Amino acid sequence: MSNDWYSDFVNSGFGKAIAGQVGLPPVPQLRRYEPGQPLLSGPALLGTATADGRVAKVVRSLLTDLGIEVHDDPNAAVGGGSSSSKVAAGIIDATGLSGPADLAEVQAFLTPVMRRIGPSGRILVIGDVPAEATSPAVRAARRALEGLVRSAGKEARYGATVNLVHVADDAVGADLESTLRFFLSSRSAFVHGQRLDVGTVPGFSGSSQGVDWDRPLAGRTAVVTGAARGIGATVASTLRRDGATVICVDVPSAGDALARTANDIGGSALQLDITADHAPATLLDHAQRHGGLDIVVHNAGITRDKLLANQDRDRWNSVIDVNLNAQLAINDALLGSEVFHRGGRIVTVSSMAGIAGNRGQTSYGASKAGVIGMVDATAPLLVEKDATINAVAPGFIETAMTKAMPVGTREAGRRLSSMTQGGLPVDVAETIAWFAQGASYAVNGQVLRVDGQNFLGA
Ligand SMILES: NC(=O)c1ccc[n+]([C@@H]2O[C@H](COP(=O)([O-])OP(=O)(O)OC[C@H]3O[C@@H](n4cnc5c(N)ncnc54)[C@H](O)[C@@H]3O)[C@@H](O)[C@H]2O)c1
Repeated sequence: MSNDWYSDFVNSGFGKAIAGQVGLPPVPQLRRYEPGQPLLSGPALLGTATADGRVAKVVRSLLTDLGIEVHDDPNAAVGGGSSSSKVAAGIIDATGLSGPADLAEVQAFLTPVMRRIGPSGRILVIGDVPAEATSPAVRAARRALEGLVRSAGKEARYGATVNLVHVADDAVGADLESTLRFFLSSRSAFVHGQRLDVGTVPGFSGSSQGVDWDRPLAGRTAVVTGAARGIGATVASTLRRDGATVICVDVPSAGDALARTANDIGGSALQLDITADHAPATLLDHAQRHGGLDIVVHNAGITRDKLLANQDRDRWNSVIDVNLNAQLAINDALLGSEVFHRGGRIVTVSSMAGIAGNRGQTSYGASKAGVIGMVDATAPLLVEKDATINAVAPGFIETAMTKAMPVGTREAGRRLSSMTQGGLPVDVAETIAWFAQGASYAVNGQVLRVDGQNFLGA
C-alpha cells in the first residue's frame, strides 16, 4: 500500500474494472530503476529530421553497443513482431532544422511513435539550442520543439515520458552520453514534458570514457544536507548505491534520525545547522578528514507558510536563511577551497513553487527562485574547476511534508499532472545522482523539474 489511496484503488482488480466503466483517470505504475536493469526494456526507433542531424550517430552507437535493437523506420516491424508492436523508446535527432517546414519530419516520425510507445517508454527529442540561432526562421523551428514536446507530454499515456534535450554547438557526441542514459533509463521515471540544455556554459571539459555506469560515483565523497529524513535521506542512500561515500548533515535536534541514515549507508553523520556562521568552515573541515569533497547536495529546506498579508520578518528571514543564504555561504567557501575537488558537483534543490509560485508561500517561492538565480550565476564561475552546479525542482513528492497537506490540496497536487500521481523521493534522488556524475560535465547551470509534468505553473 502506498500513501495514495486513489492509485491503490484504480490499480486493484476491482478498482480497475470500476474505473474503466465510469471513466476514472488511470494512474500508471512507473518503471523505476533497479541496479542491473537494462537501459531499455525493448527495441528503439531512431529518426533524423534532416540530413544535417549531428547526434543520431552517437545515439545509435550507444544503443547498439548495449545490444538494443534499433530501427530507423518508425513503422518497422520490431522484436519479431509487427509494425504496430510496442517499442521501449522513440528518439528523434531534430538538430540541423533550417526552418518550420522541417518540423513536418519530426511530426512524421513521432506520430507512429506515439501510437507504439510502450508502458514507461521514453520519447526523446534532441534539438539545437534556440538562442544559438540568429536566423528568425531557424530559431523559430528550434523553439517550436519545446511546444511540441510539452504538448505531446500531455498526450502520452501508461507512464511514457516525452522530453527535449538541446545540444549546444560546442557539444559533441560523448558530451551527451550521461544525459542520454538518464533520459532513456527508468532513473528519469518522473521527469516528463521537460527540457534540458547540454553544453550551454562554454569551456566545459571532462570525459565519459571508462565510466562504470552501474557505480558512476565510485570513489567520490558527497555531502548531503538535510539528510536525516525525507528526500535528503533517499538522496544519501541513492548516492551510496551509485558508489559514493556520503557525509550526512542535519540539525542537532534531528541527530537520532541522522545517525540512522548515516549508519544504514555506512556514511558519516555531521550535526550542523547550515545557517550557523561557522557552517561552511565546519563542513570543509569534516570533508577534509575524508580526503576532500566531490559532491555537495544542498537539500535542507524549510517552509514557514503565511499569506504575504500576514508575513513577519522573522519567519521570512528564517526561510531565506536556510533555503538560500546558507547555500550561498557554503558555495563561496567551496569555490575558494582546494577541499572541493576539481570536477566537483554542486546540486541544489529548488521547487516548483520557485517557478510557478504558490499561495501562502511567498518566502518559500522567493527562496527557491533565488536558488535558480544562484545556479545561473555560479555555473560559469565553476568552469575553471571543471565543476558544475545544477538544480532539481521537485513538484508534488510523496513525503511526510505532503502527507500533512489538507486532502484537497494533496489530491490536486497529485492528479493535476500528466502522470496523475505524486513522485517519490527516489525520483528526485535519481536526478541529483545523475547531475553528480563525473560524466555529466557538460550539464551545467540547469534547472530540471521532476514533477510528472505538473499542470500547476506548467
Ligand atoms: N516534499 C516535496 O514535495 C518537495 C517539493 C519541492 C521541493 N522540496 C524541497 O526538497 C528538500 C527536502 O524536502 P523534504 O520534503 O524531504 O523536507 P523534510 O522537512 O522532510 O526534510 C528537510 C530536512 O532538512 C533539515 N534542515 C532544516 N533546516 C536545517 C538547517 N538549518 N541545517 C541543517 N538541516 C536542516 C531538516 O531537519 C530535515 O531533516 C527541501 O529543500 C524542500 O524545500 C520538497
